[in-house]
Amino acid sequence: MTKTAPTKKLTILPTHLALVPDGNGRWAERNGLPRLAGHHAGIENMYRMLQYIHEYPIKYLTLYGFSTENWGRPEDEVGGLFELVTEFINAHIQEIHEQNIQFHHLGRLNELPSRLQKAVNRAVQLTGNNTGMVLNVAFNYGGRTEIIDAVRRLITEKVEPQKIDEKLFESYLYTNGSPNVDMLIRTGDELRLSNFLIWQTAYSEYYFTKVLWPDFGKKDLDKALLSYSQRKRRFGRLQARQPT
Ligand code: IPE
Ligand code: MG
Repeated sequence: MTKTAPTKKLTILPTHLALVPDGNGRWAERNGLPRLAGHHAGIENMYRMLQYIHEYPIKYLTLYGFSTENWGRPEDEVGGLFELVTEFINAHIQEIHEQNIQFHHLGRLNELPSRLQKAVNRAVQLTGNNTGMVLNVAFNYGGRTEIIDAVRRLITEKVEPQKIDEKLFESYLYTNGSPNVDMLIRTGDELRLSNFLIWQTAYSEYYFTKVLWPDFGKKDLDKALLSYSQRKRRFGRLQARQPT
């Protein structure tokens, strides 16, 4: 596929981009629609934006789909979201596969409905040998849960305490294989992380926008990426540098 995105001005792009697509419910409300219609519009926009992001040489993309805290929403909204996501994966996974994208899931899969588990497992298997963009979908994901799951495995495997350093610990996180997050974009006018990738974003650049996710388009993404390219990342040092 030819890379046609306007990368000319952008000399520095994030290797790992994380996205919190917030504002579906408010978008629906503003348009006089039920919340689920907002999620539907949000998922359609996710597909459009995925195609656009894929045009950039961005190697890792992590999306926040459903948090461990989202179970606290009304049952019909939660069930509707699961349905939408299951259908989305089943409808698009072949095409995603043909784009050489690797699909990964972050979170506790076994707590999700079996139809969704099946769709995710199939997607992971089908795309496992792909070598292009890594697409991490955080679904039933919590940053604290992720750390607890890592600690449980370390203890179960009787890993010697002295052997535990940051590198080893990261290999026990759901994101094993993906580097730390360079840039995190959150739409929907909320200035918080909401338990997303709390370990992996320790040195990320954050970008917040008031735009509600279903309205977030190519221009908005380009604006965010331009902002990233103009930042000086120092990682606690005096000299700006790029991560190794
Ligand atoms: C984000 O949209 C999607 C999910 C959390 C699944 P919201 O549903 O949080 O939308 P708002 O914040 O109510 O507008
Ligand atoms: Mg929200």
